[in-house]
Amino acid sequence: MPTLPAISFQHVSKTYRGKGREVRALNEVSFDIQAGEFFGLLGPNGAGKTSLISVLAGLSRASGGQVKVLGHDVVADYAAARKSLGIVPQELVFDPFFSVRETLRIQGGYFGVRTDPKANDAWIDELLANLGLADKADANMRQLSGGMKRRVLVAQALVHRPPVIVLDEPTAGVDVELRQTLWQFIAKLNKQGHTVLLTTHYLEEAEALCGRIAMLKQGRVVALDHTSALLAGTASTMLRFKTDDVLPAGVAAQARVTGRTVQLTARDAAEVETLLAAMRAGGVKVEDLEIGRADLEDVFLEIMQGGRPAVVQPGVPA
Ligand SMILES: Nc1ncnc2c1ncn2[C@@H]1O[C@H](COP(=O)(O)OP(=O)(O)OP(=O)(O)O)[C@@H](O)[C@H]1O
Ligand SMILES: [Mg+2]
Repeated sequence: MPTLPAISFQHVSKTYRGKGREVRALNEVSFDIQAGEFFGLLGPNGAGKTSLISVLAGLSRASGGQVKVLGHDVVADYAAARKSLGIVPQELVFDPFFSVRETLRIQGGYFGVRTDPKANDAWIDELLANLGLADKADANMRQLSGGMKRRVLVAQALVHRPPVIVLDEPTAGVDVELRQTLWQFIAKLNKQGHTVLLTTHYLEEAEALCGRIAMLKQGRVVALDHTSALLAGTASTMLRFKTDDVLPAGVAAQARVTGRTVQLTARDAAEVETLLAAMRAGGVKVEDLEIGRADLEDVFLEIMQGGRPAVVQPGVPA
């Protein structure tokens, strides 16, 4: 018997209705995440990532379609589905009256970890140590900085040792050092067999961590593939330079311009030469030229700008 997908989205749609206005946040989203995957869900602001996670978490009802966690329908079999999930929400929510440790004990209690609230303390201590919160265990939640509160949210999601971990922008506002510690810890849990679903706007994190990636745009899946395949499918060389001059029209059409900085992608060395020749012919003075490999950000922008056809290949992971 084939193993059950960790998460299965089937034709999921979500329409928000308010005073004469309708927002179609999700439009027929279908894909499976297999057990043990480290899966990335990317998309610009408003693409529908949090909406999809809210439906998965049972926090909001889909307008159509079905979502299952390890075979449990998130509506019909809510308790079992929810218990399989550890969710780090995008919004900071916390009870200001409890300490960090109390918050984690209470959260464990919701999922029936143990009747004795202290029985889970060894795991709570391990979570606190791994998230750099050991010295804050007895601090009150309102005494924590924003980044520390976010770390507590991560600990809260993991306190009942869920097989499926869902992180909705867990590193927003988190410092560089903790980001690294957090990823080491999540990667370790993934190696131990936990499935991870991650949304992030830090595309270099997604590139480094995720085996497969789905990209959402206006509520639809516009790309889904192994990270390596997404990267291989793009123009593979990136050219970056500074200039004060006006780019030739043919070059300008495909350039990403930020202030004085111009970024271009090229398929190979010959195309790099062609681009530079066009610049010379157009009298453009090129400063601080860098040539490097195209990254996930280039792929993302190419797909979001509709510069390449959607690659939707919800195949099983390698
Ligand atoms: N509770 C709500 N009521 C009405 N519209 C909503 C609600 N929540 C989200 N939306 C709308 O649904 C769309 C998708 O929002 P969603 O929060 O899912 O995006 P996102 O991909 O998570 O974006 P971000 O990267 O900014 O977190 C947006 O147009 C948003 O305005
Ligand atoms: Mg969101």
